[in-house]
Amino acid sequence: MFDFYSDTKTKPTMAMRAATLSAVVGDEQKDEDPTTLELCERVAALLDKESAVFLPSGTMCNEIAIRVHTNPGDEVICERTCHLVNYETGGPAAISGIMIHAINGENGIFEPAQVSDAIRPNSRYMPKSRLVCVEQTANLGGGAIWPQIKIRGVAQAAKDAGLATHMDGARLMNAAVKSGIQAAFWTEGYDSCWIDFTKGLGAPIGAVLAGSAEFIGQAWRIKQQIGGSMRQSGIIAAMCLYALDHNVDRLADDHDLAALIAARVSALDHVVNVLPVDTNIVIFDLSEDAPDAASLAAALKADGILIGAFGERRIRIVTHLDVDSTAGNALCQSLEKHLSIDSQSR
Ligand SMILES: Cc1ncc(COP(=O)(O)O)c(C=O)c1O
Repeated sequence: MFDFYSDTKTKPTMAMRAATLSAVVGDEQKDEDPTTLELCERVAALLDKESAVFLPSGTMCNEIAIRVHTNPGDEVICERTCHLVNYETGGPAAISGIMIHAINGENGIFEPAQVSDAIRPNSRYMPKSRLVCVEQTANLGGGAIWPQIKIRGVAQAAKDAGLATHMDGARLMNAAVKSGIQAAFWTEGYDSCWIDFTKGLGAPIGAVLAGSAEFIGQAWRIKQQIGGSMRQSGIIAAMCLYALDHNVDRLADDHDLAALIAARVSALDHVVNVLPVDTNIVIFDLSEDAPDAASLAAALKADGILIGAFGERRIRIVTHLDVDSTAGNALCQSLEKHLSIDSQSR
């Protein structure tokens, strides 16, 4: 099977697994795990924040950050396609008791002026606008990289109105590698931010949330409250350190492969609306006279290739550590087979 469903599907390499064998470990809840502490220090420096905390998942980073930044009844401004709105099981409502004020962006990206428009006036009858969240890169926007001017402008619009800012950086390192602009530049102006180790970086578990020392102190309390604290977590933090040392620069290969796939996909019959490919995600729609997304995904599965059907006619393909140009070629050939006009008329 060649699995293009998501970059979460990578399996740790033998070298990454080997990194756990020599990891020095201790009790993470007592700040006694040297490997986890090293990882947190490195990510805090990478994102230019005072402090950081190791968490099992990116979802937990988003949920804890929202909980720290808000009070029940507050409103969080974010784009309607973002992960925390669509794939966290209503966590922001369940865990933090907040309301989402969803903005319609373009490919997951919105304008600073839209933030200003979304902020509630000070009124006894209205929810309080408290937090603005962005996703860098924007997953359902086709892995789109926010332009510098917009991501800074959004943070500034929030700050001008006294709101906190949070960045979901599940694929921030893809943005950093593709743009050649350091991660710390992208996170400037954001009170909290995180990177995920289970996407293109290829680790099996782990994400690190960063912010001010005070923010991380509060995040630790929520982490403990919702059962996210760990013990000898250096075993997994060692794999994340390995990922930082070995799997960042190579994200460029994933971007190159995604661009190649997008070029071939764009030339296919029945393919419409291919989103611009900034990084490692290719999203396109199938025309009305083509098979629907689920049928196409099933046909490719029979050829040994997994892709994502997102909605009735939308397809998502994600490149990562475990798919190379041979896999990309097999994917394109299978798509060509199932989408050519001849195969439709047979
Ligand atoms: C943009 C984005 N944010 C957050 C997450 C959640 O990350 P995790 O799977 O580590 O919980 C994902 C996962 O796919 C994602 O794509």
